Amino acid sequence: MTPGRCPFSVASPIVLASGPAGFGTELAERTDLSAIGALTTKTVTPQPREGNPQPRLVDCPCGMINSIGLENPGFDVFVERCLPDVLSLPTRHIISVAAERPEELARMVGALSAIEGIDAIEINLSCPNVDAVVIGSDRALVGRFTEAARGATERPLLIKLPGDAGHVVASAEAALDAGADGLTLINSIRGLRIDHRVGRPMLHRETGGLSGPAILPIALARVFEARKAFPDALIVGTGGVTDLESAIEMMAAGADLVGVGYGMMANPQLPTQLARRLEAWLAERRLDSVKEVIGVAHRGGFDVP
Ligand code: DHB
Repeated sequence: MTPGRCPFSVASPIVLASGPAGFGTELAERTDLSAIGALTTKTVTPQPREGNPQPRLVDCPCGMINSIGLENPGFDVFVERCLPDVLSLPTRHIISVAAERPEELARMVGALSAIEGIDAIEINLSCPNVDAVVIGSDRALVGRFTEAARGATERPLLIKLPGDAGHVVASAEAALDAGADGLTLINSIRGLRIDHRVGRPMLHRETGGLSGPAILPIALARVFEARKAFPDALIVGTGGVTDLESAIEMMAAGADLVGVGYGMMANPQLPTQLARRLEAWLAERRLDSVKEVIGVAHRGGFDVP
């Protein structure tokens, strides 16, 4: 199927969000990736990164906060040693990259562009866990980074924006005006927990990225706002989707594809289960296509007796 504005066909609108699935190879041993729309790989950066010191993870009501710090082997090692295995996995492949300078981004995107089998490139402009400024919160920077990436590839380009910094429509407009094909909304939200016994932040780096059902309403609002402003943009809605109902909500808000991240950490089968449940629900509701669901909240909802 080709949901909404997705430029390639997918087995399902349910996709794996960048992060928890890593490069997908371990997950592939535990679940059937061919049932899932796409794998988005963990963000890689121009140079290797060790990530932030422990502790990096803390539980929250309805979610968790992580402070990984973009740990990754660096772009060149990724391309040489990891990417061939990624591309052999039986699903679509969205490769996530981040850089602190537009030239570095262009180098990575240009190199990816020359490799067969990459279906889209996601530019992570919204990591909450590094010292650099959150590029996605500044529309001028979003424009500059997107322009650099666009100049280096003709592959579908997704720009991943924050849900809690800046104005999503302003940043999204800058990305789309600079030639992005679509938006991934949203990244995790900067959050904090404090150990009440000692009165200190629980994570080494103090704040981290909150994910899970706690951020679902925030993600829905950003997707809804972006869809209202940009009827033709591809939107990947990500944030707190852990069941069929929240996946339907995300599509109804305007997402063409629905990213699952947090939910697959406890249950690696969740994305394939959601893909199957969505298909069964569409059949049960006698909906011919997911296009009838995507953005339905902007069209007065379903016809229900
Ligand atoms: C990290 C990056 C992200 O984009 C995110 O949402 C959460 C964590 C990280 O690697 O720290």
